[in-house]
Amino acid sequence: MKRVVLLGPPGSGKGTQAERLARKLGVPAISTGEMLRGAAAAGTPLGKRVEGIMLQGHLVDDQTMADVVRERLEQDDARQGFLLDGYPRTMPQAETLEAILDAQGTRLEAVVLIEVPEPVLVERALSRRRPDDTDEVIRERLSVYGKDTEPVAGYYRGRGLLQAVDGDQPIDRVTAALLAALGK
Ligand code: AP5
Repeated sequence: MKRVVLLGPPGSGKGTQAERLARKLGVPAISTGEMLRGAAAAGTPLGKRVEGIMLQGHLVDDQTMADVVRERLEQDDARQGFLLDGYPRTMPQAETLEAILDAQGTRLEAVVLIEVPEPVLVERALSRRRPDDTDEVIRERLSVYGKDTEPVAGYYRGRGLLQAVDGDQPIDRVTAALLAALGK
């Protein structure tokens, strides 16, 4: 499978696993969080617009994210496949992704959900200390995940695309479970 979405709450290990899986699948790992942090660090107009939103743990608006993701998926290296980390996070984003892939004459092949109990997520975030990893902001990010992103997981489950993997185990074991879910 070459067109894959990695879903999971903040701190579940999406970024950690995306790089590993992408290497195995021979596709680029595309992290919208990394792209936005890169834009903020570079001080681009996009970065300046989204920096404060990220620091509060809120979601960047769907239209902005549609532009970011469409442009990235149209690049040559993503034409043969991709591992998306952090997108889609809302139902409108799931529809946008479908429209982008439709226009390319392709479709999403698999969605893997990394499940981790909430207390473990909070502990991981607090020990990492990214600027959006304060106690208050991580709780806001978890609440946004429950409200906006869990329905996306439900949608993919209903379409028979979703497989869930236990993310509360050593990193190598999670990688192995994800690869098994993807038939590797
Ligand atoms: P994003 O960067 O996507 O953040 P997130 O979803 O909150 O996820 P994290 O990066 O915190 O966690 P992760 O699941 O990648 O885990 P990681 O591997 O880092 O998004 C940031 C912000 O950007 C959003 O809040 C929003 O504002 C904006 N944004 C991004 N995409 C958007 C979109 N589509 N729409 C709107 N806004 C968007 O691991 C976490 C920690 O745990 C690390 O320290 C790691 O070393 C450790 N760890 C990982 N796996 C394990 C393990 N198995 N055991 C022990 N420790 C582990």
